[in-house]
This record gives sequence, structure tokens and C-alpha cells, in this order.
Amino acid sequence: MDKPLIEALKGEALDIPPVWLMRQAGRYLPEYRETRAKAPDFLNFCYTPELAIEATLQPIRRFAMDGAIIFSDILVIPDALGQVVKFVEGKGPVLDPLETPDAIGGLHLEGVTAKLAPVYEALAGVKGELSPTTALIGFAGAPWTIATYMIEGGSSRDFARVKSWAYDDPVSFQRLIDLLVTAISDHLIAQVKAGAEVLQIFDSWAGILPDKAFWEWSIKPIKTIVERVKEACPEALIIGFPNRSGILYQPFTRETGIDGVSMDATVPADWAVRALQDYATLQGNLDPVMLLTGGKVMQDAARAICDRLKEGPFIFNLGHGVLPQTPPDNVARLVECVRDYKE
Ligand code: CP3
Repeated sequence: MDKPLIEALKGEALDIPPVWLMRQAGRYLPEYRETRAKAPDFLNFCYTPELAIEATLQPIRRFAMDGAIIFSDILVIPDALGQVVKFVEGKGPVLDPLETPDAIGGLHLEGVTAKLAPVYEALAGVKGELSPTTALIGFAGAPWTIATYMIEGGSSRDFARVKSWAYDDPVSFQRLIDLLVTAISDHLIAQVKAGAEVLQIFDSWAGILPDKAFWEWSIKPIKTIVERVKEACPEALIIGFPNRSGILYQPFTRETGIDGVSMDATVPADWAVRALQDYATLQGNLDPVMLLTGGKVMQDAARAICDRLKEGPFIFNLGHGVLPQTPPDNVARLVECVRDYKE
């Protein structure tokens, strides 16, 4: 018997859907804040296997999720490529932005997996601690989303710098994307070799791309990554998350070769069943603010999602990450509600 998360990703429709949550480790848990205080900075935290193992296991101990996602960040890739990446308290990530195409020459692919060895060590450590029904999840950011941080130097309101670079000079932008495809593929393959059974690719900023650019910078590079990972590790199961991409979820799911598609909270369940479920296992898609709100409102919303999605392969999750102000008890109630689910 496979683990429920793995069965669902192989296309089984289960009576009780497997459940895990994006950002299930993090600041909403008091024990996370305690562990976080032991590291001098966030990247150091990610690169200390003992601490990363502990943060990964915290939500598993409390809620017995069906998947344990390794504690790390999507921005370890630019860090490993040699860009300066810092996490500033109260502000989020700050990078020395790539200003011109010449700056791409300053990034180095050699040594990426050596630099990220602590992530693989943490995966191997977590693997030994999981129950036989819990799947180990590795992850990476998608090339487009990572490129936005590398060029904007952090989060952005309008993404004018990265988009105008991509529109105005697609040749040099493609060079950056190609470099990221290689770094991300190598990182994902190394995670599978260290014990990850499932991989999620976060394209958190996919939804800001117009149609043609979405095909070029989201679908195409992710398709290549999926091909490379599956060639090296045929057993790996891959979930894609083209956040906020609306009807473009359809070509994304059809074309990339992913096994599962993680849906943001705006995707209508009935549409997803018709347009996506033939191509991939559906994952999602409770609004994180529903989880924050809790009570009957949350439970009704969670059951409504199960009602509409569970006839086919389905994994319960949020539409985006757990918010830091979420009461941990609400997470316990949500998991209970999904596990007790019967029509
Ligand atoms: O889900 C998990 O439990 C695994 C851990 C995980 C983190 N980041 C830890 C983290 C995962 C899967 C991520 C992915 C990630 N990181 C994404 C894609 C998912 C998404 O939310 O769209 C993105 C865009 C990032 C980049 C990032 N990292 C930002 C913008 C920030 C600052 C804002 C914030 O939410 O704090 C981070 C920091 C970060 N990554 C924290 C955690 C727990 C908080 C840092 C802290 O504890 O001080």
C-alpha cells in the first residue's frame, strides 16, 4: 500500500483525501518561533540540518499531516548561484538585484548542489523520523518566480523591472531562465536522491504574466524541469503551482507533465473538475483567510471543496500558505474536518 499522498498523485480517488498545507511550518507555531530564535538569520536556519529537521517535523507532530514539506526557501537558489540574498526582519527577502544582462555572467552553476548539501542532509534526517504513511515533499521555486526576486531585488508592486527586461531583451532573459532551469532541476533531483518522494514547484508570480509570456516563461521552463527530473528519477511525483493564473491553469496542467496541480483559492471547483482533473490530481484550495477565520465558516468551506473535488484524484490543501497570525487550533480543526469528511 502506498502512502495516501502518493496514491492520490498516482491518480487514485480516495475516500478520505490526503491533507497537508503550504507553509505548514512557520511563525504561526510557537515552537517554530523558539527554533527560529536559535539561528542568527533565516538562511542560516535553512542551512542548519538539525534546525531544518526540527521545523519540518513540528507540524507533523501536532497535526499528523500526510505530507512533510522540507523546511527551506525558494531563494536558496539565487543564494547558491552567488547572488547576495538577505532576509530582513519585518521586510522579507532583499537581494542585490541583477541590473544588466552582464550580471548573469556573475552567477555560477558549479557548486549549487554542494552549497545546498545541508538541505539534502535535512531531507535524509526527516525521512528517518516519518511514520510509514507520511510522504516527504521537496520543493523549489519556478524559474519565472525566482527571476522576479533576482531582478526586482525583492517583492514588487508592479514587477516593471523584470517584465520590461523580459519584453525588451528576451534573448538575455532566456539565458537567465535557462540557467535557472538547470539549477532548479539539479536541486530537485538531489532532493529526490536524498529521500523526497514528491516535489512541488512554486510559480507564485505566474499570475502576473500575459498569455504569451506565460507560455514562454512559466509553462515552457517548467515542462523542461519536469522532463529532466523524471528522466533522472522516474518515480518522482511532481506538483505544479501556477498561482493566480486563471484559465491558464488549463494549458499549464495539460502541457507541463505534472502529476498534481496546486490551485489558488480563486479557481472554481466545478471548472477544475472539468478542465484539469483529467490531466492531474487536484490540490487545494481553501482560502488561507478561511483558516484564519476558523469555526463553522471554515468547516463549511472545507467540506464544500471536498464535496466537489473528491470524485476524482484530490489532495486537500490551502490556496496559498498559512498566514503567520493563524491560530494553531484552527489548523487542528481543519485537519480533523477533512479526516472526518463523509458526504
Ligand atoms: O511550507 C513549508 O512549511 C516549507 C517552508 C517554505 C518557506 N518558504 C519557509 C519560509 C516554503 C515552501 C517557502 C516557499 C516560498 N518562499 C515561496 C513560494 C510560496 C509562496 O508563498 O508563494 C516564496 C515566494 C518565498 C519567498 C519568501 N520567503 C518570502 C517572500 C518571505 C518573506 C515573507 C514571509 O512570508 O515571511 C520568505 C521567508 C520565509 N520562508 C519564512 C518561512 C517560514 C518566514 C521567515 C521567518 O521565520 O522569519
